[in-house]
Amino acid sequence: MKLKGQVAIITGAGRNIGEDTAKLFASEGAKVAVVDTHKGRADTVAADIVKQNGEAAGFVADVSSEAEVETLVKDVTAKWGKVDILVNNAAVSDNKHILDCTKEDWDRVMAVTLTGPFLMSKHVAKQMIAQKSAGKIVNVGSTSGFFGRSRAIAYTTAKAGVANFTRSLAVQLAKHKIRVNCVVPNKIGSPVGKDEFDPTRPVVNLAGRAGLPIDLARAILFLASDDSEFIVGDMLFVDGGLAAMMIGDNAP
Ligand SMILES: NC(=O)c1ccc[n+]([C@@H]2O[C@H](COP(=O)([O-])OP(=O)(O)OC[C@H]3O[C@@H](n4cnc5c(N)ncnc54)[C@H](O)[C@@H]3O)[C@@H](O)[C@H]2O)c1
Repeated sequence: MKLKGQVAIITGAGRNIGEDTAKLFASEGAKVAVVDTHKGRADTVAADIVKQNGEAAGFVADVSSEAEVETLVKDVTAKWGKVDILVNNAAVSDNKHILDCTKEDWDRVMAVTLTGPFLMSKHVAKQMIAQKSAGKIVNVGSTSGFFGRSRAIAYTTAKAGVANFTRSLAVQLAKHKIRVNCVVPNKIGSPVGKDEFDPTRPVVNLAGRAGLPIDLARAILFLASDDSEFIVGDMLFVDGGLAAMMIGDNAP
């Protein structure tokens, strides 16, 4: 078991990538705080884990609220005594062209997708430093943070921020033995903000298939475990090879 006895907080864990990550972590021996704004989703995922003899609990918190984040970290610490791993997975997208993106759309995407990881990392890092044990933070970025897109002006900008936030966080927390990295997915399971998997969603990559939440969960587990102990401040692309392709040359 790669995470035996470790306490992990996973945000946005009520479905899709976060859900599979929570379930995989629990199967590797972690005690998992399944965090979501949607209570039903968080509780269902936690209950599924417990049914499989894992250890988990649902927590309701909005990562964009500093008060809720502080309460969450206190509650998880009160329950399990410490926090070893944080996965900053929660995000929302605007899916808008700049001409249609309101300031409210922009502010909400920034608040959840970029400020959320900042608040969570800040308060979890304080706890990790106080408990004087090594920790790991895995941010969930996106290929959308590395390329321009015809839609999602706010989301693409926020995810670019997540990439460099990862590097600065890694630099600032290294002396506290907190190792920070980022996974960079492309088109995994259902689109961000949606429940349904659309089999007709166009997918161009070298793997020749759509990504699945478990593909991401395995990469997040790798970065959260000691298997990756010499990898720090890095971006792990989990995109079926999309970012390696030259536009127009998509014949594997
Ligand atoms: N699905 C993809 O194709 C894809 C591609 C690239 C990157 N990503 C990234 O992967 C991560 C997960 O994506 P997903 O598709 O699984 O998302 P999703 O929309 O399916 O699930 C996100 C979960 O986060 C919760 N959530 C939303 N706002 C929150 C908040 N303020 N606080 C706490 N929880 C909140 C939602 O209720 C939901 O259950 C995100 O960071 C996303 O940007 C996803």
